[in-house]
Amino acid sequence: MGKNKLKRFSDNARFDHVIEHTDFQDQPKPKGKWQSEIFGNKNPVVLELACGAGDYALGLAEKYPNKNFVGIDIKGSRIWKGAKVAKKESIDNVRFLRLLIDHLDDYFAPGEVSEIWITFPDPHLKVRNRRKRLTSPKFLKIYKKIASDSCTINLKTDSPSLYKYTLEIIEQEKRNIQKRVDDVYVERPDDKDLTIKTFYEKMHLKNGRTIQFVSFSAH
Ligand SMILES: C[S@@+](CC[C@H](N)C(=O)[O-])C[C@H]1O[C@@H](n2cnc3c(N)ncnc32)[C@H](O)[C@@H]1O
Repeated sequence: MGKNKLKRFSDNARFDHVIEHTDFQDQPKPKGKWQSEIFGNKNPVVLELACGAGDYALGLAEKYPNKNFVGIDIKGSRIWKGAKVAKKESIDNVRFLRLLIDHLDDYFAPGEVSEIWITFPDPHLKVRNRRKRLTSPKFLKIYKKIASDSCTINLKTDSPSLYKYTLEIIEQEKRNIQKRVDDVYVERPDDKDLTIKTFYEKMHLKNGRTIQFVSFSAH
């Protein structure tokens, strides 16, 4: 492993903004305690899944100081980037959790999450990998376990295939679409929530890709 990565991993271990699944081998997980123990307030908890460097979690956290944001990704070196920004800019309402999304319900209690953002997840185009798509029925079932009654799931993607697949799954799973934007930067160029740009999104925009968005009910 490169020196750079090792340094980031050791930084993560002492950063206040980073929580790692490995921290909980000998102690209880923060399930049900995100507001009371992690954030120390009663504000709603919003997740950014597959957050990478957590650009969305950070962008939303600055706009919504009365909400708590948790960026979740399995890659520690990416989370490190977001944690560095949070520390430098003293953004207190954001944390980063290094975790496989598959285990979300070990870390969040039923109803604990009020909103979920999924930003530019890998589309896993091969049919044999469809269960890895973060909007597959397998994952929607996990999100449902931790979602509040009014929880919304927001997907932003550059992949027409993942977008189409997600629209099909929304129908199949009888969820309600709350907002559908087939071309974010043509239809909603001034929408402050939809136009926060992630690292991957900036690359996709450079390559002329169309960015699509859909939000739907978690239940
Ligand atoms: C294409 S990147 C997008 C990162 C970021 N959202 C952005 O737009 O810049 C996808 C991210 O999903 C994470 N990821 C994929 N599957 C995951 C899983 N099951 N659990 C946790 N992270 C996952 C990867 O580690 C990677 O950082």
